[in-house]
Amino acid sequence: MKKINLLVPIMSCLILLSSCQNSNKTISEARSSSVTSVLDIEQKVDSILKLMTLEEKVGQMNQYNGFWDVTGPVPSQGNAAKKYEHLRKGYVGSMLNLRGVKTVRKIQKIAVEETRLGIPLIIGFDVIHGYETLSPIPLAESASWDLEAIKTSAEVAAEEAAAAGINWTFAPMVDISRDARWGRVMEGAGEDPYLGSKIAFARVKGFQGSDLSKHNTLAACAKHFAAYGFAESGREYNTVDIGTSTLNNIVFPPFQATIDAGVRTFMNAFNELNGIPVTGNTYLQRDILKDKWKFDGFVVSDWGSIEEMTAHGHAKDNKHAAEIAANAGSDMDMESYAYVNELAALVREGKVKEAYIDDAARRILRVKFELGLFEDPYKYCDEQREKEVIGQQAFHDACLDMAKKSIVLLKNQNQLLPLKKHGQKIALIGALASDKTSPLGNWRTAAKDNTAVSVLEGMQVYTGNQLTYAKGADVSIGQTKFVDEVKINTTDKSEFPQAIAVAKTADVVVMVLGEVGYQSGEARSRTELGLPGVQQELLEAIYKVNKNIVLVLNNGRPLVLNWHQEHLPAIVEAWQLGTQSGNAIAQVLYGDYNPSGKLPMSFPRALGQVPIYYNHKNTGRPLIPIPNNVFWSHYQDVENTPLYPFGYGLSYTSFEYSELQVKVVSDTEVNVSVTLKNSGKFTGKEVVQLYIKDHYASVTRPVRELKGFELVSLNPNESKKIEFTLSEKELGFYDNQGNFIVEPGDFSIFVGGDSNTSLQSKITL
Ligand code: BGC
Repeated sequence: MKKINLLVPIMSCLILLSSCQNSNKTISEARSSSVTSVLDIEQKVDSILKLMTLEEKVGQMNQYNGFWDVTGPVPSQGNAAKKYEHLRKGYVGSMLNLRGVKTVRKIQKIAVEETRLGIPLIIGFDVIHGYETLSPIPLAESASWDLEAIKTSAEVAAEEAAAAGINWTFAPMVDISRDARWGRVMEGAGEDPYLGSKIAFARVKGFQGSDLSKHNTLAACAKHFAAYGFAESGREYNTVDIGTSTLNNIVFPPFQATIDAGVRTFMNAFNELNGIPVTGNTYLQRDILKDKWKFDGFVVSDWGSIEEMTAHGHAKDNKHAAEIAANAGSDMDMESYAYVNELAALVREGKVKEAYIDDAARRILRVKFELGLFEDPYKYCDEQREKEVIGQQAFHDACLDMAKKSIVLLKNQNQLLPLKKHGQKIALIGALASDKTSPLGNWRTAAKDNTAVSVLEGMQVYTGNQLTYAKGADVSIGQTKFVDEVKINTTDKSEFPQAIAVAKTADVVVMVLGEVGYQSGEARSRTELGLPGVQQELLEAIYKVNKNIVLVLNNGRPLVLNWHQEHLPAIVEAWQLGTQSGNAIAQVLYGDYNPSGKLPMSFPRALGQVPIYYNHKNTGRPLIPIPNNVFWSHYQDVENTPLYPFGYGLSYTSFEYSELQVKVVSDTEVNVSVTLKNSGKFTGKEVVQLYIKDHYASVTRPVRELKGFELVSLNPNESKKIEFTLSEKELGFYDNQGNFIVEPGDFSIFVGGDSNTSLQSKITL
C-alpha cells in the first residue's frame, strides 16, 4: 500500500496550537497560558480514521512495554523483535516504561517515520509521586490535606517526567481502601471518599495543567476502575464482592472527581467485582463511565489484565478475553497481546462490532491530538530541556515543602518535641535512619537508589547538639529489588549492644523504625501490622535504658502501635517522604516546621479490627451502655474504636474550637460556622473538619461522613471564624439504583480536629 505521510499536512495546519518550547517561566506561569487551538480535533480524528485499516485501528489499541536497549534490542518482557515489527507496521498505539529523551525519540521516530500513516505514540509511565525527584508517597501527601501543595507536587512530577519524553502518567490511583494489609494503600488517598475526591481532583489538575498540549503537562489516568482497593482480606489481586451502596457512595466518587477535573484516561484493574473481572465489565466501562459520566477519553487495561480473565475463569482463552474486553469498553491492551493478535479476526467473525474498534481508536487519537503529538511528535523530546529540567532545585524545594506538610504528630507528651537545638546528647537509632533508598517508597522507577536525604543527614545539619548514630539492627537483609520478595531480618541482633550503649547516655533517643520501601506497594500485602523483624525488640531493649524516646515511623500503611502509644513519650508518623525525607523530618523534630498532618486512614488497635474505618454503619446493635449487656456489636478483647482515628494529628501548638453555629437556610442548604483559636505558643496550622450524620434514610448512612475541611494557619492567641456551606451535594447520597437523592430528616453536624470530635449540633431538614 502507498505510504501516506499525514504529518506534513496535519502539522502545517496545526501551527496555531500553543507551543512554549523555549519557556523559562516558573512551573505555574508556564502552565497557565490558555489553549489557543481553534481547530476541530473531532474532524481531524475522523479524517484519519477513514484512512486507517482495521489492523491499524486495532494497532492504536495496543500498548507494549519498552524495557529494552534501543541500540540493540534486549528484551526483558515479551518478544522485542516482534514488538519492533509491530511498531513498524503501525500496530502499536502506545509504549510504556520508555524513559529518557533519546530512547523515546528513537522509538517515536519509528512510529512517525516508518509506519504507513505516521501516527505518533503516546508514551506512558508510572509517574506516581515524582519522576526522578520524588515527593512523598501519595498516602503521605494525603495526610497534608493541603490540596494546593498536592496539586503542586503533581505539577512538579509532570514537569520533570515530561522533560524525559513522557506524556502520559498512570496516576492518580484513586482507589479507596480501608484495609492496611493491602500494600497499595500507599498509592492512594486513604479511606475516605470525600477527601479522596478532593485529592483526586487536585492531582489530575496538577498533572494535566490547564493546557494538555504544553510540553510540561501529562495526560493523567484515574485508576483502577473499579473497587480494586476492596480486595478480600487485603490480599493483592484478590476477589472483590461489594454492594451497590458501597460502590456508588464510596468507590465511585473519587473517579467522578477525576472526570470533573477533565482526566483524559482511565485504567481498569486486576480484580473481579461481584463475579465479573472489571477489565471485561460492560456495566463499569460502558454503562457508567462512558454513558452515564460521558467520559470521552480512553480506558487502558491494567498490565496483562485482559489475558488474566482466563485465570479468573471468565474467558476461555486469550481470544475470548479480547472479545470480552473490547465489547466491555476496554480501549487499550497493556501487555496482554490479546488485541493485536485477535481483535481484527474477532471483528471479521462478527464477534466484536467494528464500531467499537472505531470508538476506541477515536478516543485514543483524540487524546494524542489533545497532547499536541500530531503537531509535534517530538515535543517532549528536547535533550537540552531534559538536562536543564530534571533534578532542578525548584523541584527539591517543592518536594521538601510537601514532605514537611505530610508528617503527622501522633503523640507528644510533656512537649518532648520540638527538640532543643543546643547542649543535648541525641542518640539516633535504626537502620532506616541512615537509609537513603527506603524513603523513595515502592514507586521509584526513575529515581536512583541512595538518593534520598536520610534522617541522619537531615539531623547532621543541626550542629548544636552531640549526635551519635547506631543502626541497632537491619530491617531487611540483602537487596530488596522491585521483583523480589523483601527478606526481613528476624534474627540478627548483633548490633543491639552498641545501640543500647549509645542510648544509655543520651538525653533524647530518636528511633527511626518501620517498613523498608518495598514492603508496601503492589503485591506487598501483609498479615501483620507491627514493626517488621527485630525492630520491636530493639525498641523495647532501648526503652529499658532510656525512656525518652521519639519514635519516627517510616512506613507505607497504618501500623498497630498500642505498645508505642502506651509507653513512648513522642511518636511521629513520617511515612516514606521521598527525596527530601531526612531534611523534612529533621526540620519537624527541631521545630523549624510545626507539623499539621492528619491521618487519611484509621490506625487500628489490633489487626483483627481491619478493615476499620471511621465512616462505618451504626448496626442495629451499637454500643448502648446497659450494664451486663453483651449483645451488642463488639469484640470481647479490644474496643471497637481505632487507636488513632481518621483525621487525627497533633501540632506543637494547641487549638480550641468554640461557637459552633448551624443555620438551616433551606431544605438543601445549611450554613455552618465555628471559631478556631490557637491557644498554644507556636504558630501552627489546623485542618478544621466538618462531618455529618444523617440519622435515618432509605439506605442507611454512616455514623459520620466528612463533608468539608479547611486548612487554617493561626498565630498564638489568634482566632478565626471558619464557615462552611452544606448543599445537596453534601447532604445527599446514592440509592441502590445509582440515583443521587436528598432526603429530609435529622442530621447532626460535627466540627473539630478529627473524626472523633464531640462538638456538634442537630438539625432537621
Ligand atoms: C499496576 C498499574 C501500573 C501498571 C503499569 C500494574 O501492575 O497495577 O497501576 O500502572 O502496572 O506499570
